[in-house]
Amino acid sequence: MDITTTTTTTTTTTTTSRPRLVLLPYPLQGHINPMLQLANILHSKGFAITILHTHFNAPDPSNHPHFNFMPIPGVAEENLPVSSTDNLIRLMHYLNDSCLQPIQGCLEQLLSEVAGVACLITDAQWFAVQTIADGLKLPRIVNWTSSVSAFLSFAAVPLLRQMGFFRPLSGDEMKSEELILGVEPLRVRDVSRFLTSDPEGASELMELMVQGMKPAQAIIWNTFKELEEFQLPKLTRGFPNQHFLIGPFHKYFPTLSSSLLTQDRTCMSWLDKQEPNSVLYVSFGSLAGVEESEFLEIAWGLANSNQPFLWVVRPGSVKGSEWLEPLPDGFLETIVKGRGYIVKWAPQEKVLAHRSTGGFWTHNGWNSTLESICEGVPMICSPSFADQIPHARNVSDVWKIGVELKNGFERGEIESAIKTLMVDKKGLETRDRIKNLKEKVNLCLKKGGSSYSSLEDLTNYILSC
Ligand code: UDX
Repeated sequence: MDITTTTTTTTTTTTTSRPRLVLLPYPLQGHINPMLQLANILHSKGFAITILHTHFNAPDPSNHPHFNFMPIPGVAEENLPVSSTDNLIRLMHYLNDSCLQPIQGCLEQLLSEVAGVACLITDAQWFAVQTIADGLKLPRIVNWTSSVSAFLSFAAVPLLRQMGFFRPLSGDEMKSEELILGVEPLRVRDVSRFLTSDPEGASELMELMVQGMKPAQAIIWNTFKELEEFQLPKLTRGFPNQHFLIGPFHKYFPTLSSSLLTQDRTCMSWLDKQEPNSVLYVSFGSLAGVEESEFLEIAWGLANSNQPFLWVVRPGSVKGSEWLEPLPDGFLETIVKGRGYIVKWAPQEKVLAHRSTGGFWTHNGWNSTLESICEGVPMICSPSFADQIPHARNVSDVWKIGVELKNGFERGEIESAIKTLMVDKKGLETRDRIKNLKEKVNLCLKKGGSSYSSLEDLTNYILSC
């Protein structure tokens, strides 16, 4: 397919002979990053790109001058039901409801102005958009920004319901290590965090996303075959869509950034002064929050571990505080004596790739998990909800590339997990295993590798749509 197109959007006017793809990212950091990475990958394969986006958490067009950007009108930030992202369930309903008509309008405008729009690629969280795509006879491909394991856990929600897990668990169940048949590697003790504090609301959305993917033409996965091979028969049996495992996306163009917050680069020169593999990097992503008491347990666990640490404390992530107010006086200077560095937001991929970084204490969002695997950095797992739970299970028990904190945030357990990971023999073995996985990442992206070949297939598939 080689079509001459002229596209006008609010930001740029482009004349191009490339087939055009319209990409619709979901407006949260952990979703914007992989969608823009995918956009770059597909642009490098010869496609022209239009990014259809909300005003809320809009990507910065100046970071991506080779794309066209089209804002969805009428969904200004002040119209959102939440002023922050603390109510993710309401946000997803609101966007899938109030944005539908404006999205339809944008797509109609594009289709009337541009010959050769090959397809629409949306985040799975835009589950309601399938109807619009069908109406416009525009093929829709889903970009699933999490793992295959997480997807299969979401798809198993009806099974969890049948098994009677939609109720408060007993004290013994909350500690039970028993695997749930059909939903492995989740254990009984994982269910309540997986389903969040609002099991009905969260499971409804998980089901809507999974159902919304069934009629899609194809699914693009930010993972690689060698990592999740054990899940693939189940995936292809249950979901006979076309599947393209082309990840890890961020390794194709490592210098690109779509960060919504300013990354504090001063931590890189602090890292330069530390010993190789000595620093524990601590970050819980763009959404997770902690209580003040948990924050203090984290601080004391870090202090008592005697290991150097680089800690991202996102403003507003400690409930009831703006930033670091709850920290004990003189925490960095006298208690940890310069062994620690705290920033509001870090250049995470660069931090993980730095030779001084020896461990990552993470909430196991999929981007963080994958970024850690790609740099061969073993993990301490503190997942808080949804897909983070199966990721932590895979990291600690399936891939065995990290250790899990079992009791939330408790300073004694934190101190011992840090020592296990950073100093003990078990930690060294964990590091060896993740270094092996890192090698597999390098291979899968090379010519003839699994992701490389899958991307070739995806390109041909889109051109034949
Ligand atoms: C959310 C969900 O929580 C997660 O479970 C889901 O898989 C994706 O959406 P988030 O919590 O933000 O994402 O975590 P994650 O997926 O890890 O994404 C965070 C991104 O922000 C990563 O790409 C990371 O590199 C970046 N980041 C994080 C920074 O650039 N700087 C930081 O200081 C912290």
